[in-house]
Amino acid sequence: MVKTEEAKQRVAELRRQIERHDRLYYVEAAPEISDAEYDRLYRELQDLEEQFPSLATEDSPTRRVGGEPLSEFVSRPHAVAMQSLDNTYSAEELSSFDRRVCRNLGCEQTAYTVEPKIDGVSISIRYENGSLVQALTRGNGVEGDDVTVNVRTIRSLPLRLSGPNPPSVFEARGEIFMAKQKFLELNEARQDAGDSTFANARNAAAGSLKLLDPKAVARRPLQVLFYGCGEVRGLDLHSQWQLFERLREFGLPVVDGAAQAKGIDEVWAAVEELAGRRAEYTYDIDGAVVKVDSFAARRRLGGTAKAPRWAIAYKYAAERALTRVRAITVQVGRTGTLTPVAELEPTPVAGSTVARATLHNFRELERKDIRVGDQVEIEKAGDVIPAVVRALTEKRSGQEKPFDQPSRCPSCDSEVVVSESEVAVRCVNPACPAQIRERLRHFCSRGAMDIETIGEAMVGLLVDNQFVQSPIDLYFLSEADWQRLQKFPGLGEKSVSRMRQAIDKSRDNPPWRLLFGLGIRHVGSRAAQTLIEHFGSLEQLAQADAESLQEACDVGPAMAESVVDFFASPANRELLKQLRQAGLNMESSSSADRSAKSNSVFAGKTCVLTGSLESMSREEAGERLREAGAKVTGSVSGNTDFVIAGDKPGSKLDKAKKLQVPIIDEKKFLQLLEQPEDSSHNQDSDNGAEEERQNQSQQGELF
Ligand code: IVH
Repeated sequence: MVKTEEAKQRVAELRRQIERHDRLYYVEAAPEISDAEYDRLYRELQDLEEQFPSLATEDSPTRRVGGEPLSEFVSRPHAVAMQSLDNTYSAEELSSFDRRVCRNLGCEQTAYTVEPKIDGVSISIRYENGSLVQALTRGNGVEGDDVTVNVRTIRSLPLRLSGPNPPSVFEARGEIFMAKQKFLELNEARQDAGDSTFANARNAAAGSLKLLDPKAVARRPLQVLFYGCGEVRGLDLHSQWQLFERLREFGLPVVDGAAQAKGIDEVWAAVEELAGRRAEYTYDIDGAVVKVDSFAARRRLGGTAKAPRWAIAYKYAAERALTRVRAITVQVGRTGTLTPVAELEPTPVAGSTVARATLHNFRELERKDIRVGDQVEIEKAGDVIPAVVRALTEKRSGQEKPFDQPSRCPSCDSEVVVSESEVAVRCVNPACPAQIRERLRHFCSRGAMDIETIGEAMVGLLVDNQFVQSPIDLYFLSEADWQRLQKFPGLGEKSVSRMRQAIDKSRDNPPWRLLFGLGIRHVGSRAAQTLIEHFGSLEQLAQADAESLQEACDVGPAMAESVVDFFASPANRELLKQLRQAGLNMESSSSADRSAKSNSVFAGKTCVLTGSLESMSREEAGERLREAGAKVTGSVSGNTDFVIAGDKPGSKLDKAKKLQVPIIDEKKFLQLLEQPEDSSHNQDSDNGAEEERQNQSQQGELF
């Protein structure tokens, strides 16, 4: 039995170690221990805290995610007001800012810092005697929402400042954001799961931070970087540059790529340099912030109620264009979610022609007050998804027509249901033809059952002509149905027989594909894999209750409820029976699966994907790797065995080179996927992955 004093010391030591490894992993991206070693430390701490409850304090790393969902956020005052920044858009305006600063300070030249302007949500995080006690949003600048429980879930954020003598009060100010890739993945997963998507990474970060359930926030990939401070007691700070040093010493993640610049010429050079490196950033940057470095000079300059006179934001021009809204249409997703879409006069933006832009949801449409006939400004948010930024209301003729949120489904005319919390408007008629089409399209899609021969047009034909009402009907088409299908224009014996073969082949798909294909709300392809891995078969999963579902990692209460509801429905129970009758593979541990896994060169390896592949989506590549028994992670560390790099790889590739992790290009990746490990020992084979590892350290990169 461990004594209390001993336990106290061990707990302190474990926390110190865990905090250090969190910092190495999340802030410095240079982990020193394996996930398993980290888990051991974490579990030992958990056990001790359970044994000695008096040692389980709030700032323990085991207490990041906790508590029941909130009913609302409480507004609290800022100790020091949180101002905003004035914006400029030209070199000329930037020069006049510098002239004003120099005139007010009575000097020829001033020292500045130039920092990226992160496009996120500003946050003020208060540490007292080194412990995180409060996190407030900017709100109206004087008071903000208390989002402490949510902010604590951000893994790169220390719950305690590092260093021996923390100041009595330190308010770190910075930005909460979502990395571009993580945002795309989140939106993809939401789309897969039938949820509404976010317009951009900023909205995704803001929406996530305002979720009332901290456990749900913990699953969102939020990050934080600091660039300022609010109230500070017990610490002397005299410049921005020194503040950066202190922030780093405290173990707080600091905005990347800040520069020092003396005088306007150096400032301009730094602003331009940052603009040139904008694409390298893993998160959205919408400008550069230029700040007077000296805090004494700042005090002399002061500011207005809204913004300081010692800083300015130089905003980079987004790729925008003007066009007109021809119509607003409503799409019905497979789970019945209604999404408004702007049909635009086709116009070029950032190298492609944009003719449609999703308006995401009706609240967004109302907030932006976009009307049919409006001239609108569009942009490619995050350089990828075209978005309608605003309507040019000053150009309205009076003929523009507001678009009202429909009260009936445009496809089946049944009444829609509006859910307050989810911003979603939903058609709940399971027989809605649009939903039936979308469900079938999803079932056959590449990411699900991958029945290539059934594309958009074929889905329409099968549903509209009553061949198929539910995906299961595909497996029960009669001889007469096949004969009838052959007679449709454009379809002959050959194409119908190809389709028949593709449907037959899909019976052997791994069961997670089937589960994902069923289109249960909130169950994306990754979740489907986790669930099947955890429960082994669809039947076992159908028996599970919400509690045991949540034991499978990454399954939150909403998904658990959705899965339970799905399998509780008698119609879906019947569906399960029919799936078995149709001979679909519903169990994961088929011997074929297992042998494929153990033979693969990727079995048991930790792999990271970066860049885009020509032959398949990143998601699919991830699935192939997982099928081969690999663990696929999002960031490169010392534990990574292989990085698979496609076109335009991101910073993960640099990291891989730095850590000498073997890098595999697409061609080699495809070869290795096909190649069981044993054959890599063949005399004439020179492309085993282990050899890659050795070559790599001798020659550097491989392509
Ligand atoms: S300094 C008193 N530095 O931009 C000035 N702000 O448009 C405090 N932001 O509210 C802000 N990156 O949320 C500063 N490097 C940076 C920033 C930054 C992003 C945000 C911040 C601010 C907004 C103003």
